[in-house]
This record gives sequence, structure tokens and C-alpha cells, in this order.
Amino acid sequence: MLCPPRSILRFVPLLFSRDISPEPERRAPQNQSTQNPKKPSANGAHFPLLARPITVTLTAAFVIERFIPAAIMRILFIGDVVGRPGRKLVAGFLPEFRRRREIDFVIANGENAASGKGLTGPVAEELFAAGVDVLTGGNHTWKNKDIYKIINEDPRVLRPANYPPDPAVPGRGSELYRVPGTDTMIGVVNLLGRVFMAPVDCPFRTGKAIVERLRKTTPLIIVDIHAEATSEKLALTWHLDGLVTAVIGTHTHVPTADERITAAGTAAQTDAGMTGPYDGVLGVRKDLILQTMISLMPVRHELAEGDLRLCGLLVEADPATGRALAVERICHREG
Ligand SMILES: [Fe+2]
Ligand SMILES: [Fe+2]
Repeated sequence: MLCPPRSILRFVPLLFSRDISPEPERRAPQNQSTQNPKKPSANGAHFPLLARPITVTLTAAFVIERFIPAAIMRILFIGDVVGRPGRKLVAGFLPEFRRRREIDFVIANGENAASGKGLTGPVAEELFAAGVDVLTGGNHTWKNKDIYKIINEDPRVLRPANYPPDPAVPGRGSELYRVPGTDTMIGVVNLLGRVFMAPVDCPFRTGKAIVERLRKTTPLIIVDIHAEATSEKLALTWHLDGLVTAVIGTHTHVPTADERITAAGTAAQTDAGMTGPYDGVLGVRKDLILQTMISLMPVRHELAEGDLRLCGLLVEADPATGRALAVERICHREG
């Protein structure tokens, strides 16, 4: 079960507020029987609990909000955003959802965000404007040449970390970010699987090394494992168990019903699902996919249009320990 929003926690100081007037003045006079005991005195001695000096409670609330790390961090991970339909879903749903659920940080997989494959600068900006803080990638990251420029310049755009450590590979596969409005740091790692996929460096060794480095700064770490095989994604979850806040799978575009928190405090879901049109095959028009699967002849993919859904995982975590406290599978259906 998810915890109450932080706005409720802001009122906790009200319950513990005390009049800070000197003790002799706070006590009602013992021998003045003529004085109305219910009448508020000038120094606030008889104010009811919630009407005590407001400066004290506001100061306490400010101190808690500003200087004490947030008791709970809410992180939303959005599964592969597919083309314009997916982007429209994010723009229409995320701002209000983020405000209403008091979400602190939003990560979205953007490998399909531009016309179904790849990412461009304007498309990334569109998603950032909707409330996404970081975009992760996958096997389609390099589809548009535009990405080569923005991935070097914008730390909010990640590509899988386990490409070879070669100067020809631009961008970064992990990064540390400051959670907006807080002093909390969060690490995000993007990895690519190797089972039934093009070969890349080992996601297990690469992932462990990055996580050990990030943990020197923060225990709050989210891993996007972009992979085909559920076995590989689950194996990586156990490999990083207790070291990260969440290991969330992407790429298959089908949300799995296995969200959980391990005993060591790592949230996990084998695949967050897709954000886009479900009236097709992984976001593509079903007639085109049927045509190519039956005839074995290549066809040009066009995006499906119907049954729009935004899918992802909402994780609540303790920023002091990085442990996940609650998970909620999100599947918002348009209309
Ligand atoms: Fe993919
Ligand atoms: Fe994808």
C-alpha cells in the first residue's frame, strides 16, 4: 500500500506544536477565579491545539520540508513511449498525475518516442515539458542521427551503458540527478540485455560496477534493463538485489503482473509495458505485422492508433536507505 502524500506529512508539526512562552506566563493564574478560563490570554496560553502560535508551526514545517530529507520519495517509471500517440498520452496524463500523486521524479523509456523508433531533440523536449525528468534508451536509440548530438549535450538523455567503452559511442549510460525541490540525489542506470538481442558488453558486470560507483553518492538508484528475455531481467534483478531501489524491465512493450519488492528492498517488474496504442502488435498496425509474419516479406511499419494506454511502475522509496517501500503498477487507459 502506498503511503500518504507528503502534503499530509507537512501538517504533522501541527500535532506537536507547543506554545513557547515562558512557563510562568503559560500557566493560568491559580487564584483568579473571576477570570474566564476559556478566554484566550494575550500570550496564547489557552489557545486550542491547532490555533497555537502559527509562527512556531510554520517554522517547524519549513525546517522539516527544507532541511530534513523527505521521508518518502515517489518515483514514476513510464514504459516505452511509442510515437506521437504515446507522447500525447504522456502530455495529457502526466502533469495532473504527477501533481496529484506528489511524484518527485519521472523516468521514461524514450527509445520509440520518435515515430516509433528512436528519439530526436524536439521529441525529447516535448516529453521533458510534460514532466519527464530523464529519458532512457534501448536497442532503437541510434535510429535518428539527431540523437548523436543531444545525447552528448543533454545529461537527461541516457543510452544503454553496456555499449563498448569506445570513443565512437556518444552519450552516457548512467547519471546522478538532484530530485527537483530537494537535496536528494538519485542515480539512473540504463542497460541492454544480450539474450535474443544484438551483442553488447555484459549487463551484469557493467551494471554492478556502475551501481557500486553511484552508491558512493546515493543509495537511491533506478535501473532500466532493456531486454527481450524475462529470465535475463530477473537474473539482473537478483544480481543487483539490495543494492538498488528498483530494477525495471523495458523493451517487450507488454506489462507484466509481477511487480514486487524483494526481501532486500529492491522493487522489480519484468516489464513496465508500453505507453502507446495497444490495438496492434507492440504499437505497430496489426495488419502490417500479420502480413509480414505470414508472408515473411518485409513491410514498412506504421503505428497503430486505438486503445491508448500509459503503463509504468510507481515506486515509493526511503531516500536514506534506497529501499523500496511500495510499488504500484500503473496502467492508465485513455477514454
Ligand atoms: Fe527496444
Ligand atoms: Fe521499445
